[in-house]
Amino acid sequence: MPPLDDLLVSEEQDSNLTYFAFAKPLNGKPHKAEPALAPTKASIGEMPDVLAGRYRIERLLGAGGMGAVYRARDLLSEQFGDPDPYIALKILSEEFAESPDASALLYGEFALIRRLRHDNVLRLHSFEVDTDCQRAFITMELMRGLTLDKLLCERPLGLPWKELRDIALPLLDALAYAHARGVLHGDMKPSNVMLSEEGVRLFDFGLGQAEEGILPGLPHLSRDRFNAWTPGYAAPELLEGQPLSASADVYGVACVLYELAGGKHPFRRMSSVEARDGQLDRELHAPRNLPKHCWPALRTALAFDAAKRTITAAQLRDAMGATSSLLQRLRLRA
Ligand SMILES: Nc1ncnc2c1ncn2[C@@H]1O[C@H](COP(=O)(O)OP(=O)(O)O)[C@@H](O)[C@H]1O
Ligand SMILES: [Mg+2]
Repeated sequence: MPPLDDLLVSEEQDSNLTYFAFAKPLNGKPHKAEPALAPTKASIGEMPDVLAGRYRIERLLGAGGMGAVYRARDLLSEQFGDPDPYIALKILSEEFAESPDASALLYGEFALIRRLRHDNVLRLHSFEVDTDCQRAFITMELMRGLTLDKLLCERPLGLPWKELRDIALPLLDALAYAHARGVLHGDMKPSNVMLSEEGVRLFDFGLGQAEEGILPGLPHLSRDRFNAWTPGYAAPELLEGQPLSASADVYGVACVLYELAGGKHPFRRMSSVEARDGQLDRELHAPRNLPKHCWPALRTALAFDAAKRTITAAQLRDAMGATSSLLQRLRLRA
């Protein structure tokens, strides 16, 4: 099979720029061609027990909009005596895999996260295709732990500040880092952050995007048709059709942090547009476990109006990391 990078080509469809995977570019320029692996109803097979002759599927870890994530055993690493040959594998759902540009979207997700090397961002291993069942998949680090939505179920009153801080700082650091690398997450919410045995991990960049010009050479993937913003965490401007921005990620992460700090979503789980129209921000007050000195920053991050959300992920991290001067003074005296 030719290398995948040679196989990507774009094809304009309707008014949306959407792209097919797996067709050869001509003289480096994308052209319209029959996709070599364009999935069709007939060509997408049942999921085999072993993918690409190497990854034995063990169990389903989670399923979301686009696909499913399985725990798998890498038989090759196992053969070489690797004591921990387990990986996670994200594969498009059968239904979604039939969409002609689904594999390209999955590749886009892979290319995006591959740019990120940070302790608190999920690590990816490879992008592969099982030629028998004609399905693309990503292999990645297997996280063992709890996603923040599950953690919140166990801790309905939120976390004490010390514990909250240990999650907030690495999470904000991961987001600030991604933004500095030109990568927008697009789906900040508790179920996309894992408190794993090895620390906090930000993952699921399935709705993510690179800032303009960051991934040259890779077809610009239109995610418009697949955008399924999560209303309780998506900033109002996203729900109203504006493009994804770093500031929208800041709104989402601020909702997550607010919820962790008191067990309650800032706007009663309403969509941000409904909450804005109902002026719910007027009755917004600091969550119970958040120190006072962090509140102005978090409140700014929760602004409905993007123009008033004048704080970056890095600034929010710094605000959460700062100790209040009074606390500092007391500690110095002690
Ligand atoms: N690398 C991983 N290790 C362990 N579990 C994972 C991993 N990636 C995803 N999951 C589980 O699968 C679920 C869905 O994965 P996600 O990447 O969020 O896909 P979707 O786009 O379908 O939401 C997650 O909520 C999580 O529970
Ligand atoms: Mg998800």
